[in-house]
Amino acid sequence: MSDRRRKKISIAVDGPAGSGKSTVARRIAVELGLLYIDTGAMYRGITLKALRQGISLHNEAALARLAKETSLEFREMPDGSHHLFMDGEDVSEEIRSMPVNDGVSLVAAVKEVRAALVEKQQNLGARGGVVMDGRDIGTVVLPQAEWKFFLTASPQERARRRWRELKAKGLDVSLAEIEANIANRDEIDSTRKVNPLRPAADALFLDTTEMSIEEVVDWIKKKVGEDKTNVL
Ligand code: DC
Repeated sequence: MSDRRRKKISIAVDGPAGSGKSTVARRIAVELGLLYIDTGAMYRGITLKALRQGISLHNEAALARLAKETSLEFREMPDGSHHLFMDGEDVSEEIRSMPVNDGVSLVAAVKEVRAALVEKQQNLGARGGVVMDGRDIGTVVLPQAEWKFFLTASPQERARRRWRELKAKGLDVSLAEIEANIANRDEIDSTRKVNPLRPAADALFLDTTEMSIEEVVDWIKKKVGEDKTNVL
């Protein structure tokens, strides 16, 4: 088989908000030459669009329609980062705002929204060569992924990480506000009926509470094998 047709490995990284999975997944993708896909950003995009259009986050039919008709595309920026373009507009900053943080779990709990976004995610991952992060990647989106990781950390540590991230972006939020938001999202994400946050039976579990990003990245790279012999 020619090199162009070789199928590269896929890596699923799941875990709760603030577990460090996005930062880690992005780094792993760059270091292993794979494409990084942030599935949470897609749920955030639909939430942002609903808020902008004044659609109630309890109106499941309208949310499902939005998820089906909205174009969501990741484009690589000159600095190597990937931005989310929604219907052609770069919404990467706005999807991290507090109104979106507060509403996204409701949107992500809607069955038809999930069906539409899972389909888009599976298309993006169909040819392999991706590191995808989310909540249901190992269980639903890419059950065939060669590697599945489930990252977690204590709720206090996860809230501190999110708070530092938002502060660094100049957002004025209190740690208490973030703690409440994370606890609320944990509750909704893990108890919802459709594809709740749950490790795949064959996922490797890692508690990152006491670990730096570098340590987590190294741990995963060791598992996957830095020499890329895992690339099929
Ligand atoms: O990873 P994040 O914080 O950007 O995710 C935003 C929300 O979307 C979060 O509440 C869980 C939900 N989500 C999901 O249900 N399934 C995914 N694959 C990714 C995110």
